[in-house]
Amino acid sequence: MCGIVGYIGCKKASPILINGLLKLEYRGYDSAGIATIENDKICCIKNKGRVKELQNSKDINTLNGNIGIAHTRWATHGKPSSTNAHPHLDSHKNFAVVHNGIIENHNELKKFLLDAGYTFSSETDTEVIPNLIDYYYSKEDVADKERFLKAVNKATLDLKGSFAIAVISKLEKDKIIIARKDSPLVLGVKDDEKYIASDIPAILEYTNDIYILKDGDIAEVTQNDVVFYDKNLEKVRRELESITWDAKASDKGNFEDFMMKEIHEQPEAIRETIGIRITDNKPCDFSDINITKEYLSEISKIYIVACGTAMHVGVAVKPIFEKLTNIPVEVDIASEFRYREPLINENTLIICISQSGETADTIAALKNAKENYAKTIAITNVTGSSITREADFTLYTHAGPEIAVASTKAYTSQIVLLTMLAMHFSETLDLHKDEIIQNLKSEMMELPSKVNIILENSDEIKAFAKKIYKEKDLFFVGRGIDYAAAMEASLKLKEISYIHSDSYQSGELKHGPIALIEDDVTVVGILTDRRLLDKSISNLQEVITRGAKTFIITNQDIDKKIFPNIFNIPKVHPFLSPTLSIIPLQLLAYYVAKEKGLDVDKPRNLAKSVTVE
Ligand code: G6P
Repeated sequence: MCGIVGYIGCKKASPILINGLLKLEYRGYDSAGIATIENDKICCIKNKGRVKELQNSKDINTLNGNIGIAHTRWATHGKPSSTNAHPHLDSHKNFAVVHNGIIENHNELKKFLLDAGYTFSSETDTEVIPNLIDYYYSKEDVADKERFLKAVNKATLDLKGSFAIAVISKLEKDKIIIARKDSPLVLGVKDDEKYIASDIPAILEYTNDIYILKDGDIAEVTQNDVVFYDKNLEKVRRELESITWDAKASDKGNFEDFMMKEIHEQPEAIRETIGIRITDNKPCDFSDINITKEYLSEISKIYIVACGTAMHVGVAVKPIFEKLTNIPVEVDIASEFRYREPLINENTLIICISQSGETADTIAALKNAKENYAKTIAITNVTGSSITREADFTLYTHAGPEIAVASTKAYTSQIVLLTMLAMHFSETLDLHKDEIIQNLKSEMMELPSKVNIILENSDEIKAFAKKIYKEKDLFFVGRGIDYAAAMEASLKLKEISYIHSDSYQSGELKHGPIALIEDDVTVVGILTDRRLLDKSISNLQEVITRGAKTFIITNQDIDKKIFPNIFNIPKVHPFLSPTLSIIPLQLLAYYVAKEKGLDVDKPRNLAKSVTVE
């Protein structure tokens, strides 16, 4: 989704802004732009396409100012084009604005502004914002020192929808005004330099001292000062946070792509996520959130709500929660959950999973649930993200920044965290599932080294990818918990290789999908549950009989004569198998995409965090 960068300080702004945009490319975008103040006017350069093109444009060298804003746009209102790219200026060219989010009442505001004599050049919802600011600015007292701040504040009060904005003006050249509602925005400080961004990685290279703006905040940022206000322009205090991610974590290191780097970071991400929660013979440590027995005893149903990969985590951990807590669990897609009026009340627990903590549908689902008195827990990877402000409790995965659009280390870390949460619920409720919990704990500690074993054998996956990368259709099948991995594997392949694929519960094949099986169609089978092994094998034999070739991911003894392509993963407790079985399948998607010469980190049409509905 769209990305924002801003800078005010003693240095030339444009290289810092471009560098920030490059760091935000992972969010997904289709056009980019930059505006700085040069002498007495705003200079704006924008183009459709990549930030690199902006960086190489001949005009970029004419930008010398030390205050500016920049943006990567992911089209919502109006096609990708240089006119629709941000920054947007008002018709008098006094103000420039970059905006993330959607202004729902832009048609109404545009009509008002057209009547007031303003003109519009783009098809975007954003263009109403600079014009509104100019309108209010013209009405404020000329001598008022807070004229710019007041004008932006009045404009934001008229906006319906979501926004994070940064505004510069040629009329007040020493400040940037920023504001947010339902869209993330952060402000980094380092002596007499201030950095603005929609995401922390954009500015981490310059400072670790970061303010995370709260909903409704508006701030006046100058070279030497930052003052925060609420929407009534009352001053508010915000705490400076010290971000522990280092800048290197958002670099590729020795890897060709972020996705490959992040796949290899999984052992560490899992270890960090386990952290101190599991120690010998002690109950899981969740003292950071203090969920009591009373709180849990009231729960009669759990919903796990999320989008994309995070939703697949829900499918993977549902059987673990049901087994360990005896509470029924339903897994729901956030965009459906928020509108389908699910039966929830004060005895329902909603666990919302979101790597970014900014996914609009997931946040809306959580808010709806709260309005219906449900209890809520957020699982996220991003400190201070929007979802953390809504939930009763927040639990963090410690996967470090995930930059590649296709999620890998966040997925495995989320499964690990939720498995520990299920154990914690069971222990808190005194359900006496000691044996299984003890097994899970000790096996969980071995997960990082088992992931490493799989990574060491990636060449086998690469070789298989070379055989199948030209195919048009693939199927992923599994039973029980293996089906969760099948869903996630199919999504990974679609996302980055653009090959169509489907996932099915193996037993469902003969109820329709088998009609699609013909000579040389590839069916990937995941077989880790010994109890279901024979049944899964016969399902796969049915597709072989119809001409399919198979690729098997397993930790069981399988007849090589029937299944010539087998990739072995280490043995593990069935509940923990999705964390291992997905690794070769992440690699498969990766290598197939590479064989096709695709950009694995920034797949077409996708965004890392979908902050609009
Ligand atoms: C987007 C991404 C997916 C991701 C989903 C949920 O669709 O392309 O890879 O799984 O959002 O993101 P979240 O940040 O909420 O986990």
